[in-house]
Amino acid sequence: MVADLTTQEKLDMASKIDAHIAKHQHMPGALLPILHAIQDDIGWVPEACYLPISKALALSIAEVHGVVTFYHHFHTHPVGKHVLQICRAESCQAMGSEKLETNVKAALGIDYHETTQDGAVTLLPVYCLGNCACSPNVMLGDDVYGRMTADKVAAIVAEARAT
Ligand code: FES
Repeated sequence: MVADLTTQEKLDMASKIDAHIAKHQHMPGALLPILHAIQDDIGWVPEACYLPISKALALSIAEVHGVVTFYHHFHTHPVGKHVLQICRAESCQAMGSEKLETNVKAALGIDYHETTQDGAVTLLPVYCLGNCACSPNVMLGDDVYGRMTADKVAAIVAEARAT
């Protein structure tokens, strides 16, 4: 959380946010590129960016907030080094995602929206990854993995942790 940051860390974050706004604000439809750049750089989209973005793009803070919270891709809180998402939509549920999520939660020792104690993995639910034919699916980082079992998830998480 921003409240936990030192003054210097807050200044560094504000500086990064300003740089991403300056770089993208003149593009058509600049809001999404700015939000992507901030998340790619900082790891999440802090509320502290809403005001400077709204000023630069002549939007209301509510409009910026609305876009950030509409897209599940954007993290509104700090996340671990790796984000693991388990699909909870219909096709994956029909193919056993409930059992999968129970086992993955137990293996990681966390629930949804939590991060492992070592800061390595944040677990999030997601609703359809567009890969229904290979259900059940998970997404780790930017990669989708189909026909998952708890053992397969453990293997890809272990591989990610090793990087
Ligand atoms: S329902 Fe899970 S990928 Fe579509």
